[in-house]
Amino acid sequence: MTEAPAPITLPLQPGQVLDGFVLEERLHQGGMANLWKVRRETPLPDAAGQDLPLIMKVPRIKGGEDPASIVGFEVEQMILPALKGPHVPRYVARGDWRRQAYIVMEHIEGDSLRPLLDRAPLPLVEVVEIGIQVAHALTDLHLQHLVHLDIKPSNILRRADGSVVLVDFGLSRHDFLPDLLEEEFSLPIGTGPYMSPEQVQFVRNDPRSDLFALGVMLYHLATGERPFGQPASVRQLRRRLYVEPIPPRAIRPELPPWFQEVVLHCLEVRAERRYQSATQLALDLQRPDAVTLTARAHRLQRSGLVRRFKRWFLALGAEPEAPASVGAQVSRSPVIMAAVDVQSASAGLLEALRDVVQRLLLTEPGARLACVGVMKTARIGMDELTDAQGRSHHVQQLIALKNWAHPMTHGLALEDGRLTFHVLEAPDAADALIEFAARTGVEHVVIGARDGSALRRYLGSVSTQVVTQCACTVTVVREPPLPMPPAAM
Ligand SMILES: Nc1ncnc2c1ncn2[C@@H]1O[C@H](COP(=O)(O)OP(=O)(O)O)[C@@H](O)[C@H]1O
Ligand SMILES: [Mg+2]
Repeated sequence: MTEAPAPITLPLQPGQVLDGFVLEERLHQGGMANLWKVRRETPLPDAAGQDLPLIMKVPRIKGGEDPASIVGFEVEQMILPALKGPHVPRYVARGDWRRQAYIVMEHIEGDSLRPLLDRAPLPLVEVVEIGIQVAHALTDLHLQHLVHLDIKPSNILRRADGSVVLVDFGLSRHDFLPDLLEEEFSLPIGTGPYMSPEQVQFVRNDPRSDLFALGVMLYHLATGERPFGQPASVRQLRRRLYVEPIPPRAIRPELPPWFQEVVLHCLEVRAERRYQSATQLALDLQRPDAVTLTARAHRLQRSGLVRRFKRWFLALGAEPEAPASVGAQVSRSPVIMAAVDVQSASAGLLEALRDVVQRLLLTEPGARLACVGVMKTARIGMDELTDAQGRSHHVQQLIALKNWAHPMTHGLALEDGRLTFHVLEAPDAADALIEFAARTGVEHVVIGARDGSALRRYLGSVSTQVVTQCACTVTVVREPPLPMPPAAM
């Protein structure tokens, strides 16, 4: 049981059986993931979701892929089991990278909203109905302490009764689970046309970001145009901090003022000027007569250059205020970080590290363990991202980290979020580890040190740098000396 199971044959084929699930048909081939219709090989009477049609989401990581999408899959594997209710697919099972990463979940019959974009502009009643349904779904998820952060038509499925189900939690943020994306990356993450201004500025825990994205979608469905275009760079993304969209009624004058009021209310740059909850937005969409019309309803052009310049100037200095998350109020368990150089540490050192970490975990039963490895990259993007077999280096390191931790953690039944794995891509290992520890609020670092050669002492080592620069407790584990044969003593 402690051995990593053998990897399976790739590419996956119809008829193949993976962990008891028969792959029937590939339903979707996306940039990031394939979706297979699956069924259980032998029906399990008491298993979760045994009466549901099932789908398996399998990441497409060929190497060279954006590491955020690899981490995103880990995020989705962690978050989906924590969600419930009619607006998410029911979670059934998941598989590890060490064999084949996947998520099995309920198959939602019904199309996503993506095809609607080709038909936009749509009749107003249809747009409003969609807005109401998505707002209901968001209300439910926000109450479950989740911000989706990637609301867009392809991530919204519609059931026959018109109600919607949200999918694709790879960029989401759950208040009670660690935010692997924030811990590992310092780039704005999201889908360009839909990202809220605060998301562009790295805030990842504001439910009002989802209302902004929904506003973008309603604008597009009602006018046929995207309010902020298709930005291709961070600089273009930042334009939404100071350039307002063209008012919808300037594109389609037949749209009623109340609808423009609602959409522009969602698209306010500052979250505190938007609807404060999805319920409020749903209410306005349901009762147009009761919508309070403000200057937003009557605007027929973008604001003039002077106002835009003012907004641009303000945006320069303004950092959005991140809301205190519910999670922040819950006492956080201490984070222990194991810095593991799976690539070049000796077997003896790796084992010694594991021993120390295991002892710490026993003395701190509530702690979270973050296992961190660094993948060295050059400063300029000239690195080989795949090995000779075309496998992603990032995924290989992730697997190596998981294999390292396995003997220590497989008996511990740590619940989701208590054990996380991180491959940092950085030119300097010590800097990356120190930054990660600070960003994640690590309280105790365990790191290995190889025995000191003269050269290493001269140049300084990663562990020395971590000891001197980390604000928290650092335990340095040294390679155990080789046992001496008795005769030599
Ligand atoms: N549980 C599901 N049931 C039915 N269709 C789904 C389900 N999950 C995803 N899909 C479909 O597959 C597409 C891709 O899935 P998604 O999770 O969004 O992956 P990606 O990360 O590639 O965007 C979605 O746009 C949707 O059409
Ligand atoms: Mg998607």
